[in-house]
Parts: sequence; structure tokens; C-alpha cells
Amino acid sequence: MLKPIKASAIANANIALVKYWGKRDKKLILPNNSSISVTLKDLYAHTTVDFSKNYDKDIFILNGKKFKVGTEEYDKYTGLFLNLVRKMARINLKAKVSSNNNFPTAAGLASSAAGFAALATATNEALGLGLNKRNLSMLARRGSGSATRSIYGGFVKWRKGKKENGTDSYAKQIASAEYWPDFRIIVCITTKEEKKIKSRAGMAQTVATCPVYKGWLKAAKEDLKNTERAIAEKDFTLLGKTAERNCLKMHAIMMTTTPPIFYFNKTTIDVMQSVLEWRKEGIECYFSIDASPQVKIICLEKNVKKIKEKCKRFKEVKKIIVTKPGEGVRIVKKHLF
Ligand code: PMV
Repeated sequence: MLKPIKASAIANANIALVKYWGKRDKKLILPNNSSISVTLKDLYAHTTVDFSKNYDKDIFILNGKKFKVGTEEYDKYTGLFLNLVRKMARINLKAKVSSNNNFPTAAGLASSAAGFAALATATNEALGLGLNKRNLSMLARRGSGSATRSIYGGFVKWRKGKKENGTDSYAKQIASAEYWPDFRIIVCITTKEEKKIKSRAGMAQTVATCPVYKGWLKAAKEDLKNTERAIAEKDFTLLGKTAERNCLKMHAIMMTTTPPIFYFNKTTIDVMQSVLEWRKEGIECYFSIDASPQVKIICLEKNVKKIKEKCKRFKEVKKIIVTKPGEGVRIVKKHLF
């Protein structure tokens, strides 16, 4: 017999080295291409969930802001997810969910990845679903595609799978957080504003209207192989080059949709161009950008100081976070309410 309890989990954000862009099934969140990411140590979401008779409707609080049942933000994301887990557990209890990110939300720093990985894990605990990591990654996937990967730490691959029911579309760890000790990611926050086009809408528009989308899928396969090889051999140059090119290809297909989607702002472009210059000066680093104007610079520890100093010179860069591969999702005792 289920005894509803409260549970909390912390999950780290991740940045895709080979990106996922486009779904083969929108309801089950099944991707058109496999992807690889690195989980980020210093960017995380802490989420508490409580299923109880005391609530007559669901309550969702994100960074202290309440999202009401009936609003798009709630219904399309957390609401759908809670209905799914209630069905799995065969219960009707309403829930209270509170989640805090230690970084700007919805500005393209994988807040949904961290948030849904944490929510899936806390729910698994609260409702006693008994899911193992693989199944947990599939549950997190139903909240947000990138959340599939945040279940694990270090370097993670999300295989797209082939089955219509999605049971072969889950994440696997390629290498642990400790595997590449001098691997660093420098996050440059160029705006704290929420992004204007959510990934979900952006990728649907791309699949529907981008004339070169097929080329992206072909290239992503190649990038995946090279990235796996680069991680296995700790070949930083191959990894960085492949990640940077993959990011540019994704933004190229975004820009060539109708209407075009631009996630960059002026500072994003300034930082990207500077990274190319710094490489010419002999400082090896590469950029990667998700569906946002924030730039992540990939480098090795020995170059962090120099790059950070250079990043500080951009007046518009609001915050710089130096981080490294971090751990996977975990249950924590501390509840948010
Ligand atoms: O799963 P979503 O809706 O957060 O979309 C993720 C899209 C990218 O961040 C651009 C790529 C990726 O693989 O994380």
C-alpha cells in the first residue's frame, strides 16, 4: 500500500556536446538524433515533491514563483508530468512541487534538464515507483529531453532508440565525473532574461520548415562517433572542434527555419568570435551554445585563468561560472517546504 511521502532530490544541469534538436515523437519526447552531454558540477536544481490529501489542486513553485494550474507554463510541463506519474502509481493525489535553481532559469542553462531529472527522482522516491537509473532517465525524458541525460554524472550519451514506445531511448554514462580531471567549462551569462522561444516550439518549427534538417541528422551521427572517440582517448582537440562545429550546425538549422530563430545576442557573437581569436593566440578553447544566448567555453584547467580574465573584459557578460564535470542525480534529506 502506497504511503505518500515527501521527497527531495538534487540534479545538475548538463551541456550538450552533440546536441539534440528535433523529435520523432512529441508526446513521448523521442529524439531524431542521439546526443552526448557533460553534467555540470556547479549548476543544479533542488526539488521537493509532496503528494498529499491536503492539496485540492497541484501547486508548482519555481524559484519562489507560483505557476497556476491552467497556465501554459504549468499545464504543458510540470502538469503533464504529474499526471503521468499519478497514472503510473495509480493514485489521484494532488501534489506540491517546489524547485530552486542556483542559476538563471529558462535562460538556456538547462534548467529544465536539472529540474525534471530532480523531479523524476524525487517522485520515484515519494511514490515508491522503484525505478532503476535507466527507467528514471526515461521518466525524466517525459518532462524534458535533455533531462534524460542529467540523471547521470560525467559524460553521458542519450541514445535515440528506434522503438515506437520509447523503451530503448534512455541515457547511459560514458565516463564518470572524475574521468577527465582537468576538463573545464566556463559559462558566460550574457543575459538573465528568459529566452523568447522555448526549445520545444523551436525544434518543432525546425523539423517542420528547415530545408536542410536532413543534413543535420547526418552530421550529428558523425559528430557522435567523433565525440565518443574523443572522450575515450581524452583527445581534447577532437572533442572541442566537434562540439563547436555541432553547435554551429544546430544554430544554422535554427536560423534557416520559417520564421528564423536566433538565440544569440550581440555579446554571444562577440564571445564566439573572441574564442576563435584566442585559439589563434594559442589558448585552446571552444564554444558551445544551446537554445539560448549564453556561451559555454570548453577548455582545460591550465587555460582557465587566462580565459576568465578575457571574459571579464566583456562589459555585457553578467556572470562567469567556471565549472567541471559533476555528479548525477541524488536524493537529499533537505526539503524546500
Ligand atoms: O530538452 P530540451 O527541451 O531542454 O531541449 C534541449 C535542446 C538543447 O539544449 C539545445 C540541446 C540539448 O541536447 O540539450
